[in-house]
Amino acid sequence: MAGKIEIMETVLRDAHQCLVATRMPTEDMLPIAAELDDVGYWSLETWGGATFDATLRFLKECPWERLRKLRKAMPKTRFQMLLRGQNVVGYKNYPDDIVEAFVQRSAANGIDVFRIFDAMNDVRNMKTAIAAGLKTGKLVEGTVCYTISPVHSPDYFLRIAEKLADMGVQIICLKDMGGLLAPYAAYEIIKKIKTRIPLPLHLHSHCTAGLAQMTYMMAIEAGVDIVDTAISPFSQGTSQPATEQIVAGLMGTPHDTGLDLAKLAKIAEYFYRIRPNYREFESPVNNQIKPDVLISQIPGGMLSNLVAQLRQQKAEDKLEAVLAEMPSVRKDLGYPPLVTPTSQMVGAQAALNVMTGKRYSVVAMETRNYVMGLYGEAPGEIGAEIKEKILGKKEPITCRPADLLKPGLEKARAEAGAMAKSEEDVLTYALFPEIAKDYFLYRDGVAERQPATAVTQ
Ligand code: CO
Repeated sequence: MAGKIEIMETVLRDAHQCLVATRMPTEDMLPIAAELDDVGYWSLETWGGATFDATLRFLKECPWERLRKLRKAMPKTRFQMLLRGQNVVGYKNYPDDIVEAFVQRSAANGIDVFRIFDAMNDVRNMKTAIAAGLKTGKLVEGTVCYTISPVHSPDYFLRIAEKLADMGVQIICLKDMGGLLAPYAAYEIIKKIKTRIPLPLHLHSHCTAGLAQMTYMMAIEAGVDIVDTAISPFSQGTSQPATEQIVAGLMGTPHDTGLDLAKLAKIAEYFYRIRPNYREFESPVNNQIKPDVLISQIPGGMLSNLVAQLRQQKAEDKLEAVLAEMPSVRKDLGYPPLVTPTSQMVGAQAALNVMTGKRYSVVAMETRNYVMGLYGEAPGEIGAEIKEKILGKKEPITCRPADLLKPGLEKARAEAGAMAKSEEDVLTYALFPEIAKDYFLYRDGVAERQPATAVTQ
């Protein structure tokens, strides 16, 4: 029987990314920072994922400045970030020198734990980020993305975890971004991994389908070490189980988290008060149990953004049809897990297939790149007919996708010129040149605040 369960609190990253489209500004985080720092969480997720892009694009804040402010306000607790492997915090592969410099500056500005994943579970896409993370002396969580398909068996997930362990990661993370992981499946996978790999195991799930609380219970029985939760006002729906419910549920057992419910109640009170600030970014679908995600397999953060995108095109009534088309697109493409950026790709292609009324009559560039192998190796087969329809006579690549990229950091430095006031600015520019430029000009008082150019995720 495993011992104490540790908690990662997600309210400053994943919880608001899922429930209110990543719109929580730093000024809403700082007033409660001292209390959060005093709880004794194993870690606080404070950075990465969509927050980097959203801070710049929508909130016109410097994400690095956010990290430094939070670090200063919470000196005691481990800070964790979500890093998309070779995609860093963006939506495409970046050259190795940018990945390495980004990880180095993230550690220097306050990150203690790097959760590194690849949407395809292709470890070649995680190699550079993992090596860079280990070089900083901080902790690296090698991540296995969970999904359901005819090719994703417990042994498949174990094989990925073993490859990550061989790369030297200190923690294995099982990431269930869609909330699809059912209790007994979790038990089997976690038992398998814990039996074979002598590393701490960290589980991340979402309540989207109403499974996560049951799944956490079985995961704990199977020997998981750390679980992700969100303080109650930012829990449930597309977010994580409530921190308080997991803490209370384990109290007085060998798995007792040791966290104080009275301290958590104070934090909950604060977040209840500020949640109405984000009313315009709320979507009713975010707060209900949506068991149909078990069919569409759409991850928490993406559902609210897909709704927003369709709303922008005055096509909100097409949501059901797009959700129904997604499993077919996914099958055609060899069952990629649905997580940034493959979730956006499958979502966009499904939307095109529905809007045009003729499947693949219009193919998004992202879909084409995916079939070319530029996202990595597909878990299953891509149908020959689909391949020919999309690529014609062209052959997909077989090497690590980032091997095709030239170094990019010095080019970004030259392009950003005097706009970049720090190494962090150069990296911001290297990742998102257009929105970085808008932000720098606004920050330096050269230009008015520009409206956000595109929907994130
Ligand atoms: Co998540």
